[in-house]
Amino acid sequence: MKHLLKLLDLTGEEIIEILNLADQLKYELKHGIEHKHLAGKTLGMIFEKASTRTRVSFETGMYQLGGLPIFLSANDLQIGRGEPVQDTARVLSRYLNGIMIRTFEQSEVEALAEYGSIPIINGLTDFCHPCQILADLMTIREYKGSLEGLKMCFIGDGNNMMNSLIVGCLKVGMKVSVACPEGYEPDQRVLDFAKEYDCFELLRCPIEAAKDADVVITDVWASMGQEEEAAKRRVAFDGYQINDNVMASAKEDAMVLHCLPAHRGEEITAELFEAHADEIFEEAENRLHAQKAVLVKLLGDQK
Ligand code: CP
Ligand code: NVA
Repeated sequence: MKHLLKLLDLTGEEIIEILNLADQLKYELKHGIEHKHLAGKTLGMIFEKASTRTRVSFETGMYQLGGLPIFLSANDLQIGRGEPVQDTARVLSRYLNGIMIRTFEQSEVEALAEYGSIPIINGLTDFCHPCQILADLMTIREYKGSLEGLKMCFIGDGNNMMNSLIVGCLKVGMKVSVACPEGYEPDQRVLDFAKEYDCFELLRCPIEAAKDADVVITDVWASMGQEEEAAKRRVAFDGYQINDNVMASAKEDAMVLHCLPAHRGEEITAELFEAHADEIFEEAENRLHAQKAVLVKLLGDQK
């Protein structure tokens, strides 16, 4: 594994290896065991969109591993004034040991990897959010003990979260069902991947999709960059909220996850959110551990 651009590039075994290392790093952190795996290493973090969790967890993670995170707002970089990503990649590769980037186009992340000579980590694009899904899988495994055979149900927009959950969950042997309104389906590349799996279904009805699910996941109806569509989307997603009705269809002990930020009263009720707050905030914490595992795998000396 040279980069983390999208989960489609990883095998199920590689995903599990990251989760195993993440569990170990979490245990070590909780027990005060320090390993400066990335002493002397630098990570550039390019943000073209807002972030709370991704920024703070990557920055803290690099610090805990003995390395230096450098926050790079796209507005302050020449990339924000039109310097090509191909040139940015070749320049930054001369200074840094790795780059984390949050942007719009997946092609920008892929171009950084193609033209640069250091590991690139996708911190969210419109297409996918691989770091988040690693944390989600880590959390599910923590609560349920294993992943294989469990059913993940995602209700809502066919966005970066739905795209990467479909891929990540199928790759580790989970069953996947998703429900979205017409016109908001997941990316065609993801559907092409998923159609090889008998245990994948794309449905319209949230109650049907949640049937016997072990974990129910949702995300905002209007993602970053879609703010102007918010009103139209509220209409389109009417009936796609996760609430007690939907959860009554899932297993009795089903988990609820949300990558955050959440819009209570839209994609999830305030009551359901609070009832599952422990799981949701463990998921947020696990961003730190899962990303540290990715950083050690990609930037560390022991591959
Ligand atoms: N879930 C997530 O990526 O959060 P941020 O947008 O705050 O980084
Ligand atoms: N789908 C959301 C996820 C935020 C972490 C967005 O792209 O804004």
